[in-house]
Amino acid sequence: MKNNQIEDYIRTIPDFPHEGIMFRDVTTLFNDARGFRMAVDMLLHPFAGMPIDRVAGLEARGFILGGAVAHQLGIGFIPIRKAGKLPHDRIAQDYALEYGTATVEIHTDSLQPGETVLIVDDLLATGGTAEAGISLVERLGGKVAGCAFVVDLPDLGGRTRLEKMGVDVHALCAFE
Ligand code: PRP
Ligand code: HPA
Repeated sequence: MKNNQIEDYIRTIPDFPHEGIMFRDVTTLFNDARGFRMAVDMLLHPFAGMPIDRVAGLEARGFILGGAVAHQLGIGFIPIRKAGKLPHDRIAQDYALEYGTATVEIHTDSLQPGETVLIVDDLLATGGTAEAGISLVERLGGKVAGCAFVVDLPDLGGRTRLEKMGVDVHALCAFE
């Protein structure tokens, strides 16, 4: 019987997708009814009762978590997608990868200026993806209430990067 630690539900795959990477696989957390519920409850806990208008999820695993968090808070969900997937008017934000760049997009009508948005993803590594998501929300006039992640990889500096921007970072567990 598993105990109640979030990290116990997360599977580690050595050498994926490249040699030397310890990949933190949250599909095992999603697959477990108790683990998934606990993760969603813990993600939203610091923000419950705050005046949050919408949840934005970062593709792809942020959709699974963010959708559930939005449902639980009784508010709408915004998908922040990789380039070329959103069909309506959108803005794009580039961000750096280890090799090259990537782009994420948001629909321009997905939030109103002045609205408060909680950003959700499975994992914080360098913080590049989350920073791009924050930029998209802010460029539409939104205010970021915070960023919530299941996993933080503190060695990669994402938390420090986001906190330097003045963003409240909440993570359920960390892997050194
Ligand atoms: C992973 C993860 C985060 C991001 C974190 O997604 O789910 O979204 O990387 O890395 P960062 O903090 O260094 O930006 P990935 O880009 O692998 O995309 P996927 O969810 O579509 O597989
Ligand atoms: N798991 C999932 N996504 C990731 C990871 C990981 O360990 N590292 C960087 N992005």
